Amino acid sequence: MPKHVAETVVKISARWVGETIKLPQPSKMDQNVLYRAAQRSDLDVIVGFQVAMARETEDVTLDRDICTRGVAAVLDDPSRGRYYVAASNDRVVASLLLTYEWSDWRNGMVWWIQSVYVIPEMRGQRVYAGLYEYVKRLAELDDTIRGIRLYVDRRNTRAQQVYTRLGMNGEHYQVFEWMK
Ligand SMILES: CC(C)(COP(=O)(O)OP(=O)(O)OC[C@H]1O[C@@H](n2cnc3c(N)ncnc32)[C@H](O)[C@@H]1OP(=O)(O)O)[C@@H](O)C(=O)NCCC(=O)NCCS
Repeated sequence: MPKHVAETVVKISARWVGETIKLPQPSKMDQNVLYRAAQRSDLDVIVGFQVAMARETEDVTLDRDICTRGVAAVLDDPSRGRYYVAASNDRVVASLLLTYEWSDWRNGMVWWIQSVYVIPEMRGQRVYAGLYEYVKRLAELDDTIRGIRLYVDRRNTRAQQVYTRLGMNGEHYQVFEWMK
């Protein structure tokens, strides 16, 4: 890809994820929890979250080395996606990943939320609710974004209840996959 094209892609995708927009913290949330875009220095903690989540939700043991390269690939190239984190007393306690899907029907981008994880001792305290509200406001402020989607393991009823509670509709689509 020519350099000027690559630079444009990165610039546009940075706008998609609101990098140039400064947001106040979500209003009804614990004011000790801060929400922000992830930085390169968050790599190890985000990898740790992925390993813990795969084990907890799908009983899968991730290869830490592959996962580290997978997370780093996003942190190094925002056209792949963007992590957002919640931090309490300077400790990262939750993260999610946004990736992008082009919608020809809507001539715009749909964000996908992936890799949602809140550390066990912070659950049930509206940390994910705050992270979701933060990301949703970024989407609302960007008129090229048409909506937000996510998929969830059928067995993960807790996460399904949380997503429903926060106003997402899980009845529309079913996900099919073929994975190598
Ligand atoms: C699912 C998960 C992200 C939820 O995070 P959380 O910070 O505990 O959720 P919140 O406290 O923000 O809850 C959001 C809302 O859902 C409700 N809720 C939370 N847990 C619930 C449960 N088990 N059943 C029903 N409602 C629940 C909360 O009351 C809150 O509602 P409110 O807005 O009316 O107050 C967290 O449990 C987690 O990390 N689980 C392990 C990893 C995982 O499953 N990831 C998702 C992969 S798709």
